[in-house]
Amino acid sequence: MKSLNIGIIGFGTVGCGVFETLKSFNEITVKKIAVKNINKKRNIENFDNSLLTDNPYEIVNNPDIDVIVEVAGGINPIFDVLKTAINNGKHIVTANKELLAKKGSELFSLAKEKNTVILYEAAVAGGIPIIMPIKTILCANKITKIAAILNGTTNYILTKMAEQELSYETALKQAQELGYAETDPTGDVEGFDASYKISILSTISFNKRIDINKIYREGITKITPQDIKSAKELGYKIKLIAMGRVLDDGKIDVRVHPMLVAKKHLLAKVNNATNSIMLSGYPVGDLVFTGAGAGAEPTSSSVVGDLLVLASELEITNSPLPQSICTHNETAEQIDIGDTYNDYYISITTSNNPGTIGIIGTICGKNNINISTIMQKGINKDNTAEIVVLTETSKESDVQNALKELIQSESIKNINNLLRVMN
Ligand SMILES: NC(=O)c1ccc[n+]([C@@H]2O[C@H](COP(=O)([O-])OP(=O)(O)OC[C@H]3O[C@@H](n4cnc5c(N)ncnc54)[C@H](OP(=O)(O)O)[C@@H]3O)[C@@H](O)[C@H]2O)c1
Repeated sequence: MKSLNIGIIGFGTVGCGVFETLKSFNEITVKKIAVKNINKKRNIENFDNSLLTDNPYEIVNNPDIDVIVEVAGGINPIFDVLKTAINNGKHIVTANKELLAKKGSELFSLAKEKNTVILYEAAVAGGIPIIMPIKTILCANKITKIAAILNGTTNYILTKMAEQELSYETALKQAQELGYAETDPTGDVEGFDASYKISILSTISFNKRIDINKIYREGITKITPQDIKSAKELGYKIKLIAMGRVLDDGKIDVRVHPMLVAKKHLLAKVNNATNSIMLSGYPVGDLVFTGAGAGAEPTSSSVVGDLLVLASELEITNSPLPQSICTHNETAEQIDIGDTYNDYYISITTSNNPGTIGIIGTICGKNNINISTIMQKGINKDNTAEIVVLTETSKESDVQNALKELIQSESIKNINNLLRVMN
């Protein structure tokens, strides 16, 4: 049997998982593996150290290698390494969402020019098959909406905050101890990771390139136990939601932020490190994909799946998969967060003055905001009160203006949080 010769760049969590999974596939041969530190001990049984190099160019310039598996991560030096690979006519399988979100258009254009393909099932939601279904069996559809939980770390933290009434800091520490969160958790908790993934998903779903810099992004670091408690009392859970929508005028709304999600909603039932993606398309209707969004084994399922597709196609036709060639030449017209319409949760600390609720009502009314629920539970020891407001659908810029006005009022001590609501 003809063999597909591959080089792997990166031999950490995903790289090792891929290597182990490939042991069951004789038609794929690992020729070389690039790492950063060649002296690091590798936890693989009977591992042949001569496979390792600390020079990724040795792999991408090797004429015996057909496909590069890039599971190192980051932009530098990987962007340049992969450009060299593509210029040398190699196909790429990558799990690197940051690279695709920031440099995808350049890489895909180059790949098109050089008649090679870049497959990236592992880059979005780890083990959940979502890229290939959108690009193949769902291609008859016009996809207009995605709402997803795409980051396991933040979902784990929010789940523990809700279930065990932990503070954000304690839940983060627990996630770090269990290996769900990195020592520097910024990429996850500030929503960067989810924004890379939703930019990739929105690009392929809406057939337009999404500019990562125009995606509104807000993380979970400001969510307090009080927000979680108030949300629970109102019948909601707080989740970090990545969403993309095509509006009636063809503009695109892509964003990542925490939301109050109604308890009956499917996404509210997705707990711990699990990921879930809801798609709405015509004619298919609503679809939900749920599963492990990270980890060595689930992620290797996607990487090796891409490799097997390449292996089978290349042996039969010796030409790249037509559905995997990038066709997104038009840039999306993305809307600003201020122009979006949402239902809102506003948590406010006020003084215990007569007429405070009236002030909140008046300012909301002046800014075209209809209040649907207002909740106050007694008075705090320091003579302040926590007031939670739920609004009907309102324009974001109106809500931001109302908050600016509210904070000017002597009766308003603090705007604790503003969250969007998914019913
Ligand atoms: N972890 C997951 O569950 C998961 C899921 C989906 C996607 N991903 C994506 O997959 C990629 C890898 O993630 P990971 O968790 O496996 O990372 P990781 O455990 O930190 O491993 C990174 C590997 O890349 C190697 N490396 C770093 N810079 C290199 C360079 N310049 N040249 C050659 N090798 C280099 C490192 O070498 P040393 O071993 O010598 O340090 C290490 O083996 C990232 O893009 C990530 O976003 C990860």
